[in-house]
Amino acid sequence: MTLEFLEVRPPAAHSRSWTPFATSEGYEHPHWWNNAGGTTGDPWFVRVLEDGIEVARVQLDDPGGISPAYTNAPTLGPERLEIQFIEVTTAARRRKVATRVVHGLTKHHPHRRLFAYSSESADCFWGSLAGWRRFDHPDGRSSPLFIQPARGDDPNEAATDT
Ligand SMILES: CC(C)(COP(=O)(O)OP(=O)(O)OC[C@H]1O[C@@H](n2cnc3c(N)ncnc32)[C@H](O)[C@@H]1OP(=O)(O)O)[C@@H](O)C(=O)NCCC(=O)NCCS
Repeated sequence: MTLEFLEVRPPAAHSRSWTPFATSEGYEHPHWWNNAGGTTGDPWFVRVLEDGIEVARVQLDDPGGISPAYTNAPTLGPERLEIQFIEVTTAARRRKVATRVVHGLTKHHPHRRLFAYSSESADCFWGSLAGWRRFDHPDGRSSPLFIQPARGDDPNEAATDT
């Protein structure tokens, strides 16, 4: 089923005090959605609808940062764009919504290179994305880093599921 992506951005003068989503019914992590405090760059959220019903939210950090401490991680320039957090409503999970959201973001932002630091419970999800590479921190504790394949190496570029 087709997904619709709606951008949610703050009014310019209120980017830090702004409340992106007033309610988070159906989500387990409301603190990611009621403020933009997790971003270091410009706050930027995406609301994802499936047949008019909200099924996911994404918090982006533009451009976000890649720690050089991660073993063998590539250096990305200003094309990088961090998926700070993605959440699918509990009712919509395990239907490839998150997979389709990430593919949709790559299609909507063809000149960017997406990356994300996983939370422990999401390693399997990020690891399931075709072509995305995992990089680990030498301390053995920090969240793994997952990076979208370079353009031309992306097996999902021809995907039409958005
Ligand atoms: C992680 C999350 C976004 C995945 O969303 P989703 O729409 O259910 O994921 P998908 O259906 O696209 O999953 C694709 C694949 O990822 C893996 N996967 C996803 N959720 C998984 C889970 N809970 N346990 C194990 N593997 C999982 C599976 O390989 C799955 O393929 P399969 O269903 O054919 O086995 C969702 O569980 C979520 O919102 N979790 C809470 C918030 C969170 O942890 N976000 C990540 C922040 S870094």
